[in-house]
Amino acid sequence: MKVAVLGATGMVGRTFVKLLEGHPWFKVEKLVASERSAGKRYGELVEDSPEEFRDIELVSLGEFLRDPGVDLVFNALPASLSREVEERLAKDVPVFTNARAHRYDEDVPILVPEVNPEHLRLIKVQREKRGWDGFIVTNPNCSTAVLTVSLAPLREFGIKRVHVATMQAISGAGFSGLSALVIHDNVVPLISGEEWKIENESRKIMGQIESGRIEPASFEVSAIATRVPVLHGHTEAVFIELEHGSTEEIKEVFESFDPLEGLGLPSYERPLVYTEVPQPRLHRDRGKGLTVTVGRLERSGSAFKYVVTGHNLVRGAAGGSLLNAELAKKLGYI
Ligand SMILES: NC(=O)c1ccc[n+]([C@@H]2O[C@H](COP(=O)([O-])OP(=O)(O)OC[C@H]3O[C@@H](n4cnc5c(N)ncnc54)[C@H](OP(=O)(O)O)[C@@H]3O)[C@@H](O)[C@H]2O)c1
Repeated sequence: MKVAVLGATGMVGRTFVKLLEGHPWFKVEKLVASERSAGKRYGELVEDSPEEFRDIELVSLGEFLRDPGVDLVFNALPASLSREVEERLAKDVPVFTNARAHRYDEDVPILVPEVNPEHLRLIKVQREKRGWDGFIVTNPNCSTAVLTVSLAPLREFGIKRVHVATMQAISGAGFSGLSALVIHDNVVPLISGEEWKIENESRKIMGQIESGRIEPASFEVSAIATRVPVLHGHTEAVFIELEHGSTEEIKEVFESFDPLEGLGLPSYERPLVYTEVPQPRLHRDRGKGLTVTVGRLERSGSAFKYVVTGHNLVRGAAGGSLLNAELAKKLGYI
């Protein structure tokens, strides 16, 4: 299938392009960015571009929209541009997006393949309601993606409440990011809108489809989000109350969680690995960035606490979105 990457020069777009190198199902046909980049060769702007994409000429978004000519779109544009662009493209082709523009629409899933693959059923609702041949599937914001992979195996113990404090990498703020003077030697306990996203996206992802929409999970999620001087890899301290379960049982489900093994998705990696002391620099590239590392599991009064870390650009963005597209294709939605 011919695919386009929108926002191909940004942090997430670059990651998409790397992950699509030699992909057995998806062939990169178009790389799209702003007017500033249009007409330049990809390798001129992205020094570490895979060889096979170096000579592709970037096209502007306007030019692309006039004649997309692809079968599927991966979107890594800023959210402010994405709503209109995604709706226009989804009339004809599937759109897998990192932008938040459609995450909270009733008929649009926020998908994490190992957590809520059944939410792909919303595609049918979306197509019927909107009269589209294509569809939109979003993935969550980066810290929610890492968190929900760690929460999914705990559902069997009855999740009552989740409190999380995040320590998020600089690359989560995009290519222009934060000023070095702000983030060096510092912790910034404010990421605009992030706490609301973690609290609401994780409940939608862990919710159930009822009457053609998602009924969010009923447990409470409360988050504090901080930015720390780490290049890639979001780390999260999680405090969780469960209806039942012991540390041994929790560790056991963490260690055995591998729900899509054997399905034959080309990018699939084991989603979760238990390690005593998870750290972004040591563990973010596990499973090519798709594996999340949990550890430091302990009982804390009547609750439990643990630490989880995962690659924000891969598990939390491009890699998650690519896995979404692979799952949708495998299950016959494409
Ligand atoms: N970074 C993360 O960890 C992360 C995680 C999850 C979701 N997201 C979401 O993913 C999206 C991309 O984030 P990012 O961090 O990769 O951002 P970024 O590094 O700032 O990249 C933005 C991309 O959009 C392009 N762009 C900007 N304005 C444009 C315009 N007017 N027309 C066409 N293209 C335009 C840029 O092209 P030029 O180079 O030509 O300007 C660039 O390719 C955002 O919606 C973000 O919220 C990011």
